[in-house]
Amino acid sequence: MANLKLTGVRKSYGAVDVLHGIDLDIRSGEFVVFVGPSGCGKSTLLRVIAGLEEITGGTMTIDGRVVNAESPKQRGIAMVFQSYALYPHMTVYDNMAFGLTLEKGTPKSEIDRRVRHAASILQLEPYLERLPKALSGGQRQRVAIGRAITRDPKIFLFDEPLSNLDAALRVQTRIEIARLHERMHGTTMIYVTHDQVEAMTLADRIVVLNGGRVEQVGRPLDLYADPDNLFVARFIGSPAMNILPVEGEGAGRLRLGPAGSIAVTPGSRLHLGVRPEDLRLVDDAARALVSGTVTLVEPLGEVTLVYVDLGDGGEPLVAKLPGAVHLERGTSVHLAAEPAALRLFDEAGHAVRAERRAAA
Ligand SMILES: Nc1ncnc2c1ncn2[C@@H]1O[C@H](COP(=O)(O)OP(=O)(O)OP(=O)(O)O)[C@@H](O)[C@H]1O
Ligand SMILES: [Mg+2]
Repeated sequence: MANLKLTGVRKSYGAVDVLHGIDLDIRSGEFVVFVGPSGCGKSTLLRVIAGLEEITGGTMTIDGRVVNAESPKQRGIAMVFQSYALYPHMTVYDNMAFGLTLEKGTPKSEIDRRVRHAASILQLEPYLERLPKALSGGQRQRVAIGRAITRDPKIFLFDEPLSNLDAALRVQTRIEIARLHERMHGTTMIYVTHDQVEAMTLADRIVVLNGGRVEQVGRPLDLYADPDNLFVARFIGSPAMNILPVEGEGAGRLRLGPAGSIAVTPGSRLHLGVRPEDLRLVDDAARALVSGTVTLVEPLGEVTLVYVDLGDGGEPLVAKLPGAVHLERGTSVHLAAEPAALRLFDEAGHAVRAERRAAA
């Protein structure tokens, strides 16, 4: 059980500022996922939390205790990396026990208890006497996780632990990590991934990072439904939310759903966001949000992704339509969306939320 609090945490390498003041409050037992583009500082933030890197500024506390100067071990943190270097000449058992045997004073019986406990959590019992080369990639990754579990950490850090696995194994190991978190209730976990599905399914809360800053922190479905800004709107969800430029022609109110609307001033420039799955085909241009020409059709079975050129010189819009839809390149289409599904952002990219009218 450990609560982790970061206040104004900064990290520079020489003149290169990588983290620009990170504030985060991670609750005991929470599963938090860091996402963000390559180079935004996810691994650096994990390494800083682990104590593998010194911070340049700010404060980090665990359960209220300032840990800025503590080693990873003193912090009670274990980290699992993307490339899980197991010792090839050691059995699974010895790989998991190795870190503990290095420490003076942990009795053999205690080491044995911890290794067997980790093996049972990870269903590795049948493989304890095997060498790593006789394991699948997923099993090896579980041994690497097992090695972290034997250290009985209060906080677990994972840096893209599944990215070397093939698609099927990723899914299986992802489910195992979710179970692991359940079984080790109370253990705080922080997990970095590029994978949207891992982020959405594993996280109690997602932290979206961009250029060394936090863009938004929230529950997965809240980020998906109600992003604070254009960056998060584009980053969470695949294919990404469509963003269309809109300009207020006259003063008035733009209706967003049955109970909400926003005031539009003449000449104001806004960005309108609509998720691919919220678009549907309509016959009539008058009822459409947008009209254009199909440039690409990707049938995925369950759904078909249809890319539509709106003739405005911008990116094609993507619609996620039912799998049975038959459309060809060059076809003209009209697409509509429910007003409640539309999201608006101001010129600076901040969400403009509808004013809710009291239900009549
Ligand atoms: N030791 C270092 N010296 C200088 N710059 C560094 C060092 N380590 C990392 N950086 C820089 O810090 C930035 C963040 O790197 P980091 O590895 O944290 O990114 P990331 O979000 O984990 O990216 P990825 O998704 O590609 O793993 C990058 O621009 C990187 O070049
Ligand atoms: Mg990284």
